[in-house]
Amino acid sequence: MGLSRLGQALTAREIRELVAADLEKVEREIQLESIASVEAVTRIGAHLQGNGGKRLRPMLLLLVNKLAGETNDAAIRLGAVVEMIHAATLIHDDVIDDARSRRGKASANVLWGNQTCVLAGDWLYMQAFQIALRQRNFSILDVLIALTQTMVEGELLQLERIGKIAITEADYMELVDRKTASLFSACARLGTLVAGAPDDVEAKLGEYAWNLGMAFQLVDDILDFTARESILGKPVGNDLREGKVTLPLIYALAEATPAERALVATVLHERSYDRVPLARVLTMIGRYQGIERARQRAWAFTSKSREIISSFPESPYQRALYTVTELITERDH
Ligand code: IPE
Ligand code: IPE
Ligand code: MG
Ligand code: MG
Repeated sequence: MGLSRLGQALTAREIRELVAADLEKVEREIQLESIASVEAVTRIGAHLQGNGGKRLRPMLLLLVNKLAGETNDAAIRLGAVVEMIHAATLIHDDVIDDARSRRGKASANVLWGNQTCVLAGDWLYMQAFQIALRQRNFSILDVLIALTQTMVEGELLQLERIGKIAITEADYMELVDRKTASLFSACARLGTLVAGAPDDVEAKLGEYAWNLGMAFQLVDDILDFTARESILGKPVGNDLREGKVTLPLIYALAEATPAERALVATVLHERSYDRVPLARVLTMIGRYQGIERARQRAWAFTSKSREIISSFPESPYQRALYTVTELITERDH
């Protein structure tokens, strides 16, 4: 496992404990700042925040911040900012995907309808920017504005590719970069920035987190085929039903027979497993080791993250960031 090199391995709980007090402050900040003068917006924010979620992005920001310097109020505030941006993207994403559930509960679009959710997402984005603006630091806004545009462009590109079977690995990686890795990278860069660390440290930790984010989304897409809904908190086999061809399937399709491709095309076309059950698609993916190969690709990203973080001096935060890379590939939800 390589952890022995770094001394004692940390558990997920120990990592969380390192930043628990600050995460609580982030949580309070989100609560305080998510109150709108229109009740529906406040309720949608509270619904999402109250239903769980791993708070991975603020955790990453805080750990990196502590690695790079002293934690201050700016890091707490930005922790709230990145989680609120994440929440806004999830609210919009569930409208776009016509999702039924999120974090194990009915998704906001089901409860409040698309129109209200689009506006609530907009409100949350702007509220996040308003909090960020309080730092009076243009570098922070540079990161956040570029990030939000990258993510929105990613969702637009994904929409253009919906239902298409001819998605290449490069197409897929571009989407993952935009919709997930870019936010992870921004978290690390913001955490470093407000710690007052030099630019090269910001770039290195940004790259660490980018690779982590790539792995995270690959694992998310693998779990979409392998997990159980009760643990995942969202339906299984969902991506393909939504018309999204993800990495395990891309790998399998590259070697599949015309008949097997036709099975996938049917699901993509009908947006349901009525004629071709998920089990048949899973068998096909299994025949070409689609899951294993996607997992290896995810490991390649995390091993790059580990290589980068290993170049930092040993400390509890450095060890935590090292261990996070393993937790990401081993997670079940
Ligand atoms: C969901 O992110 C969206 C993806 C990038 C896959 P998370 O899996 O971090 O969602 P929560 O915040 O824990 O619900
Ligand atoms: C990731 O997209 C969500 C965003 C980064 C906006 P997905 O559509 O794959 O995420 P889930 O599966 O709904 O969480
Ligand atoms: Mg979605
Ligand atoms: Mg997904």
